[in-house]
Amino acid sequence: MSELLDNIAGKFLTLYKSSPLLVESPGRVNLIGDHTDYNDGLVLPATINKSINLGLAPNQIHRIRAYSIDLNESVEMNLNHLEKSDKQWFNYIKGIVIELDKIGVQTQGFDIVFGGDIPIGAGLSSSAALEGAVLTGLNEVFELNLTKGEMAKIGQLTEHNHIGVNCGIMDQFVNLHGQQNAALLLDCRSLGFKVIPFNRKDIKIVICNSRVSHNLASSEYNLRRTQCEEGAELLRKYDSKIVNLRDVSFELLEKHKDELATEVYNRCKFVLDENKRVIDASKCLLSSDFLAFGKIMFQSHQGLSEEFEVSCNELNTLVEIAKGQKGVLGSRMMGGGFGGCTINLVEDQYVGNFCENIFGGYKERMGLEAEIYITQINSGAKVLEADLKLP
Ligand code: GLA
Repeated sequence: MSELLDNIAGKFLTLYKSSPLLVESPGRVNLIGDHTDYNDGLVLPATINKSINLGLAPNQIHRIRAYSIDLNESVEMNLNHLEKSDKQWFNYIKGIVIELDKIGVQTQGFDIVFGGDIPIGAGLSSSAALEGAVLTGLNEVFELNLTKGEMAKIGQLTEHNHIGVNCGIMDQFVNLHGQQNAALLLDCRSLGFKVIPFNRKDIKIVICNSRVSHNLASSEYNLRRTQCEEGAELLRKYDSKIVNLRDVSFELLEKHKDELATEVYNRCKFVLDENKRVIDASKCLLSSDFLAFGKIMFQSHQGLSEEFEVSCNELNTLVEIAKGQKGVLGSRMMGGGFGGCTINLVEDQYVGNFCENIFGGYKERMGLEAEIYITQINSGAKVLEADLKLP
């Protein structure tokens, strides 16, 4: 058992005098397809070898007691009086219980201890990992019989109603459905997905953490979503079948370009292009054409930066530095934007140089020390041990 799992079990025994069910729940990367999910579009994410580990066990006292190892903070609340906590991490746990209750699924009291190595607020979906961990744990110990799809939706509703981020379904979905050495080509409308193998030893997924997280991230994120909805609403006048941007064709968008505010047009154009890029990039993956895949990643970054305007100086700098490096096939910002990480596809033999040059170049240009992670694609959230035997 890892040191963290040992820690969790030990802390659980000290705090709650019981032994927990253990869950592992990963962070994610998105190879391509950003800001498409809440437009019912396509995405290509994968779960990685950075995760949250969580211990969970029922208690008989009708309360939630939770402890974060990394922050050394604990919160306790009565299940009948769940309210907003000043500890944001607890709001995810509380939100899940309330959202479950809304669909008629009740839990009894429970205890939690968790920790992990997914950097918080860095665009690797530490929040979806926490949601997936809590839901997987609750599902198991209270035998809730929820499907992974249902759990993903509860996680998403938790973000909407308890955190204030009107996110799409990508992060929660891949957290629960992710597979080892494969990305998921997910249709965010039907929630149907195709497993696309990604297991080339000679190509690495390298993540560069800009170490900035601009605080306009959630308000600008919600604004982008509203702008996309505004575009779809206007175009619906010309085709009543349009529900959202997924249903809009390039032809229709161009025909009515002048009726849309420039910003709204740019947002819509980006989403249509990005959906197409996901399809094209998936075909490249299937035919192992990583050169073409990488080119599409660069195009995606340009669109995110110039048309969707969710990048920032730090992310653009990381991509610019990457672009000039030997062995770099593709690079782009990833996730919601306004800070966080870039994702880079790098030929294995050049990874060492790449890391050095990114670190040095970013420090020189931005005065910041990037964190760099060479990731592997791991499976989605899962129960580790049904019944941990303590000494
Ligand atoms: C965040 C959201 C996702 C998705 C991405 C952008 O990660 O949680 O739903 O919208 O941003 O692709």
